[in-house]
Amino acid sequence: MADRPVLIVPSVLPADFACLGDEVAALEAAGADRIQWDVMDGQFVPNITLGPDIVAAARKHTSLPFEAHLMVRTPELLAERFVDAGCERLIVHAESVVHLHSTLGYVRSLGVAAAVALNPATPAIVVAHVLDLVDMVLVMTVNPGFGGQDYIASMEPKIADVRAMIEAQGRGVDVEVDGGISPATVAGAAGAGANVLVAGSALFHDAAGLGHAVAELRDLAIAARPR
Ligand code: DX5
Repeated sequence: MADRPVLIVPSVLPADFACLGDEVAALEAAGADRIQWDVMDGQFVPNITLGPDIVAAARKHTSLPFEAHLMVRTPELLAERFVDAGCERLIVHAESVVHLHSTLGYVRSLGVAAAVALNPATPAIVVAHVLDLVDMVLVMTVNPGFGGQDYIASMEPKIADVRAMIEAQGRGVDVEVDGGISPATVAGAAGAGANVLVAGSALFHDAAGLGHAVAELRDLAIAARPR
C-alpha cells in the first residue's frame, strides 16, 4: 500500500461544459494527476452526460491522462471510441456486463489500462478473479449518476477488503474512490486503503480555487494513509 502514489483525479462533471478546454487546462495548472470523464447513458444510471466527441474536443487542451468512467449498459460497444478520443484508461462497472473477465480483456486488447468499478451494493469478492486484468479497482462511495451526493462511509470496510485482496495477491493495483470525496471525507477513504481520489464538487466549489483544493485533498490523503 505504501508504494502506491496518492493521485488526485478530478471529475469534470461539475465543470462548465461550455468551456471544457479551459476547464481541463485549469485542472492541469492546479496540479491534478489525471482527469476522469463521467460517461452516463441514461440506462445504467438515471442521467446522460457526454460521449467520445466531447472527450476528443478536450484532448488537445491538456497533457493530463484521461480516464473514462463508463457508467453505461454496453461498455464494450463504446470502449474503442473512447480510446480513439484520447483515454488511456477505461473503467468498466462489474454490474454492467455479463462477462466481466472477457470485457476487461477486450479493453486491454485496445492497448489501454483497464479498471473495474463496484457500485455500493456490490461486494469486493466480485473482483477477486480479475485483479490480474486491471491496474485499478474503483470503489464507488455514492450510487452513480450524479455529482454532489453524500459520501457513503459504510464503504470503508469494502475499500479495506479490496486493498487486502490486492495485497494478498501481491499485485500493483490502485484503489480508487469516487463520490462525495472532500476534505471532510478523504481521510476515511485513504485510511481504509484508497490511493486514487476522484472529486468533483469539492474541487470546483472550493472558494480558494482548484489549486488549493487539489493540494489540500492530496495532503489530507497522504496524512491519513496506513503506515
Ligand atoms: C457519480 C459520479 C460522481 C462524480 C464526483 O456517478 O461519478 O461521483 O464523479 O462527484 P462529487 O465529487 O461531486 O461527489
